[in-house]
Amino acid sequence: MKAYTEMTREELLQEQAALQAKFEEIKGKGLKLDMSRGKPSNAQLELSNGMMDVLTSESDMVCEAGVDCRNYGIMDGIPEARRLLADMSEVPEKNILIYGNSSLNVMYDTVARAMTMGVCGHTPWGKLDKVKFLCPVPGYDRHFGITEFFGIEMINVPLLETGPDMDMVEKLVSEDDSIKGIWCVPKYSNPTGISYSDETVLRFAHLKPAAPDFRIFWDNAYSIHHLYDDDQDVILELLTECEKAGNEDLVYKFISTSKVSFPGSGIAAMAASEANLADARKAMFYQTIGHDKLNQLRHVRFFRDMDGMREHMRKHADILRPKFEAVLDVLDQELGGLGIGSWVKPKGGYFISFDSLEGCAKKIVAKAKEAGVTMTGAGATFPYGKDPKDSNIRIAPSFPTPEELALAAEVFVLSVKLVSLEKLLAQ
Ligand SMILES: Cc1ncc(COP(=O)(O)O)c(C=O)c1O
Repeated sequence: MKAYTEMTREELLQEQAALQAKFEEIKGKGLKLDMSRGKPSNAQLELSNGMMDVLTSESDMVCEAGVDCRNYGIMDGIPEARRLLADMSEVPEKNILIYGNSSLNVMYDTVARAMTMGVCGHTPWGKLDKVKFLCPVPGYDRHFGITEFFGIEMINVPLLETGPDMDMVEKLVSEDDSIKGIWCVPKYSNPTGISYSDETVLRFAHLKPAAPDFRIFWDNAYSIHHLYDDDQDVILELLTECEKAGNEDLVYKFISTSKVSFPGSGIAAMAASEANLADARKAMFYQTIGHDKLNQLRHVRFFRDMDGMREHMRKHADILRPKFEAVLDVLDQELGGLGIGSWVKPKGGYFISFDSLEGCAKKIVAKAKEAGVTMTGAGATFPYGKDPKDSNIRIAPSFPTPEELALAAEVFVLSVKLVSLEKLLAQ
């Protein structure tokens, strides 16, 4: 089909009339579909049901350290869970600290601690006139939610195919000591699905921030969440590169098993230098007498080791891959060559990111809603919910069934076409 951008006014009007009729027909079906949140489907949750059986009232619940997991003790996490999460984070065991059930909670705590107590002996951020964070965009709404909640000013940095625009990052952090952090999802990023290049990771490791308490918040939420066995992204391990660069305190790495086992009932961890972990432990001591060791034991008994976890992730991929491909096929078939949108085909993670013509995203999401399809709110992928171009839309294909997805994708492309036609006709 001819690109919309090359059609005459008559052709555009003709196309609009045909699509409007199709839209009304679909609207009449009373659909109720949701492509808004990156939640695993029921089939994925069932993959981990066996975890509920590895501990019974008959089980030995003593961990390798000889401590009864039913009781208090071992604040850093049981040794076997530390090993598993250290392997998952690609760091030595000494660099890992096990937390509770959510990595977002660890990120929140880390910012809260910096605000109230300061980072490694520096002035608490809450006592400074201004604290700023760099936010690669589009990015994860809940990261931006944490920094907004604490009144931290957020600065947009474009996320390129290789990662954040490092020229901009280097310049800003070296000139402004009120910039205290940057949010990063280095692998299969939420939402664009890109992974940072080696050059980007190395430039991060060699950053020279003006603020001594600047930290990279490296949220490796999708580290082992590949869609393909034979085509996987591998990124350099940042903590090691920071150490080599003499910058070992520069990074906090976050990880969890939320989308490996059960979201909300997984294990979260932070990987960092020994100085950063000592700083975190000081607060943790007052925060808790220990995290859920039975859950840690359950995870280790179920997965055993990284090989077990990788095998498990292949089963997730088998469920997720056809869903991603179903949506991508519809995008390719229906929107390919029309000149009204672009998207990246991700090799992992949980999202497909779509960029519409400028000024159309909000209207597209509203249009899809009119026909019963809920998308992530337009703007959510930017700080303060403000997408300056109003063009980015996050598609989350994990939860609906493949049949539901095919329908939802049809409604989505129809909405994209109708809103784009409206824009082109108004020009
Ligand atoms: C980038 C990213 N980080 C963190 C989370 C949440 O992780 P958790 O369940 O460990 O809090 C998500 C969930 O969608 C995510 O996309």
